Amino acid sequence: MVATINGATANAVNTKVTLCGIEMDNPVMAASGTFGYGKEFAELYDINQLGSFSFKGTTLKPRFGNETPRIAECPQGMLNSVGLQNPGVDAVISEELPELAKVFHKPVMANVCGGSPEEYAAVTAKLEAADQNADCESAQPQIGWIEVNISCPNVKDGGMAFGTDPNAAASVISAVRRETKKPLIAKLSPNVTDIAEIAKACEAAGADGLTAINTLLGMRIDLRTGKPILAREVGGFSGPAVFPIALRAVWQVTHAVDIPVIGCGGISSAEDVLEMMMAGAKAVQVGSANLVDPYACVKIIEELPAAMEKYGITSLEGICSEESRKNM
Ligand SMILES: Cc1cc2nc3c(=O)[nH]c(=O)nc-3n(C[C@H](O)[C@H](O)[C@H](O)COP(=O)(O)O)c2cc1C
Repeated sequence: MVATINGATANAVNTKVTLCGIEMDNPVMAASGTFGYGKEFAELYDINQLGSFSFKGTTLKPRFGNETPRIAECPQGMLNSVGLQNPGVDAVISEELPELAKVFHKPVMANVCGGSPEEYAAVTAKLEAADQNADCESAQPQIGWIEVNISCPNVKDGGMAFGTDPNAAASVISAVRRETKKPLIAKLSPNVTDIAEIAKACEAAGADGLTAINTLLGMRIDLRTGKPILAREVGGFSGPAVFPIALRAVWQVTHAVDIPVIGCGGISSAEDVLEMMMAGAKAVQVGSANLVDPYACVKIIEELPAAMEKYGITSLEGICSEESRKNM
């Protein structure tokens, strides 16, 4: 019998995973900033096929993002300096989330950003309050997890500055922790000497999980002008080229903390998902691949059962268990 893409399958491969107490049909989430607030993708396919997705990094006030050009192509990847363009948390609550509720019936991950610990906390408090009001009508909260982006390399204030210092990272996580009981995921920057140190600081400050990694700081120069291609000169590098770096980061972080880790960076196939989970990831996020092919996530999800069978994997929960990690 043919395996189905959602959950347990006839061929006895089980793609379900549980992330911070929330069960997902499969471990594949779309990564923040590559999936908007879901609606453009919902026009192309049923986005309920995803495990979930992390919505665009959201700040207290609307942000128009950085000057253009803010994208540069690279072999096996891309540079972006979008600069957290988003409509602001109030518009997300009044417009984006109600629209999303019509087409997506699973808990979504809310990606939160700010220029100070207080701003991160204020955005989280607003999302928390809005979600409690929405709870009255539906059985499950619309926002499953709060993902705290302490790793954006494309903003002047905050962003990566918080994710490259353990004390600063802890101050943001503690501030957000006070505002929500939802699972709190810290999104880590790869632009550090010791990612495990930042991971441990986030865990100690109250994070329930981690996402590793955000983009790597990079740059390109236009040979005709001798000037940087990006208006902001530097940007975040992502795509297949970063996969081994992300995998290494996930490996290091899962050995340093006891909380679950979401693997992110360069994933573009079902095999990549399995490799990331063998490194210790509980779930995965797919980013730039969505910009190359908007169907990337569903294709990966469809390919997952066959890839599991190929490698004799019957359950994804099992791959990254404490037991199997210790034996690696
Ligand atoms: C255009 C673009 C925008 C992004 N915006 C965000 C964001 O708002 N918040 C965030 O946490 N990460 C953001 N990211 C980082 C991705 O979520 C992801 O961590 C990174 O791209 C690595 O994964 P990938 O190699 O699969 O793209 C963005 C990435 C890209 C390419």
